[in-house]
Amino acid sequence: MQKVIVLDFGAQYGQLIARRVRDLGVYSEILPCDTPAAELAATGVDAIILSGGPASVYAENAPSIDPAVFELGVPVLGFCYGQQIMAKVLGGEVGHTDVGEYGPATITRVTPSRLFDGTPEEQTVWMSHRDSVVKVPEGFAVTARTAVCPVASMECAERNLYATQFHPEVRHTTYGNDMLSNFLFDICGLIRDWSADGIADILIAAICNQVGNDRMILGLSGGVDSSVVGALCARAIGKQLTCVFVNHGLLRKNEPEEVEEVFTKQFDVDFVHVHAEERYAKLLAGVTDPEAKRTIIGTQFWEEFFAVAQQLAEDGRPVKYLAQGTIYPDIIESGARKTGGKASTIKSHHNLIPFPEGVSFELVEPLDHFFKDEVRALGTALGLPDSIVWRQPFPGPGLAIRIIGDVTPEKLRILKDADAIVREELDTYNALLFEKTGERNSEHACWQYFAVLPDIRCVGVMGDERTYARPVIVRAVESTDAMTADWAKLPYEVLEKISSRIVAEVVGVNRVVYDVTPKPPGTVEWE
Ligand code: XMP
Repeated sequence: MQKVIVLDFGAQYGQLIARRVRDLGVYSEILPCDTPAAELAATGVDAIILSGGPASVYAENAPSIDPAVFELGVPVLGFCYGQQIMAKVLGGEVGHTDVGEYGPATITRVTPSRLFDGTPEEQTVWMSHRDSVVKVPEGFAVTARTAVCPVASMECAERNLYATQFHPEVRHTTYGNDMLSNFLFDICGLIRDWSADGIADILIAAICNQVGNDRMILGLSGGVDSSVVGALCARAIGKQLTCVFVNHGLLRKNEPEEVEEVFTKQFDVDFVHVHAEERYAKLLAGVTDPEAKRTIIGTQFWEEFFAVAQQLAEDGRPVKYLAQGTIYPDIIESGARKTGGKASTIKSHHNLIPFPEGVSFELVEPLDHFFKDEVRALGTALGLPDSIVWRQPFPGPGLAIRIIGDVTPEKLRILKDADAIVREELDTYNALLFEKTGERNSEHACWQYFAVLPDIRCVGVMGDERTYARPVIVRAVESTDAMTADWAKLPYEVLEKISSRIVAEVVGVNRVVYDVTPKPPGTVEWE
């Protein structure tokens, strides 16, 4: 399989470039900017892209590049800082321009270039720079400029070196994708050969290589990220992997059974189902504060998890590696940055893991380069069922934060049963939309939907009897990232069916209400 390496100069969203390349059907991964040329050559690279970065090429400790990269005979494309470093290393000049450019800018092409084939003479691009190239290296031609930037792009076609001051990877650059495509297929002569199956093979080989004959442990939550890591590691190292599924009793109806089924029947791993339901019930008894519930549940998870690791060590099977389902947006969100290596010691986004005294693991995070939809494609390629691959987001503290007030077995029973009905009906609703639109996340598909149990009772009448029972709240939202959300405008018939089924089928419920609050000002969850 062909490979495009993105050398990262500290670009805020460097992974986006790799992502765009993968979207075009060519495998791509990111490595630190100072990776030696010999190392790149040894791994077999077909094209190199230099990312942008926040520094000035003349700043002290400015990130640099091994000049031999330009001698490898491999086509190179630089963006922003990538253009500037290419110019500087190859004998051009970078200077401060009087006016920086931030945001949309119009470029005018000045000489024909294969990079711009099929795109207009004038077009909108996305700029973000103060420095710019003021003199191109020998043998280079300027291919586009803007009113304030004399070298908006440059190239030395004979050596297959291309660069742009703007960012083609950003959607605001109207023809950015065409440029990337021209580079990959026309200039580099690559073909589309990347697929989720292919990447699964690469990741599996990397895990085998790293872990060797040692033992690895993974906390399985049943969510898509940890399940895909579980499936990958299972394929890579089989029974050397212990999957720990801590059942806190706060998962949705039938979920624990499904996770167990998949990881015992479909994958051949050491699966430990920790039945911690009673311990959690005791710890949560009488606790009403949402943050206190979260803390108790999180802390106890690690207690249970480390107890399994300790038991393995006592049984003569000590654990060296901890696998984590970290995906790329988790790293962005936590502000932690890392490029390259598949494993590292604990970084800031893992500081929340309360390792006991003297305990440490080496981390394996096979998905840390990937975005959610790529992880889903990988899950499908590995044979995980749709119910896991397309599982909606579910909070770690589970149903405990959907039960307002204290958590009791009776409330849990009511919520699980009501929630199962909400999910069943809205799964059907989403599936019908999917059939119509061909898109799983079509505009009006519900993104997250569940039931909430408030800590009150209300009066009703059933048959000839007055009832004094519980109301259930239905929450269904449309969103893409949970940062903002809108309540789903569900058809009345769907709401009617959910309501009548819950009241008829769930003992102890006499009323159903629908939450019509967007986020903000509401949140998706009630606690
Ligand atoms: P809110 O309620 O903040 O939720 O609008 C946004 C998204 O985050 C999920 N969520 C959590 N996930 N632990 C988690 O792992 C939590 O404590 C938690 N609280 C909210 C929520 O389901 C939604 O997708």
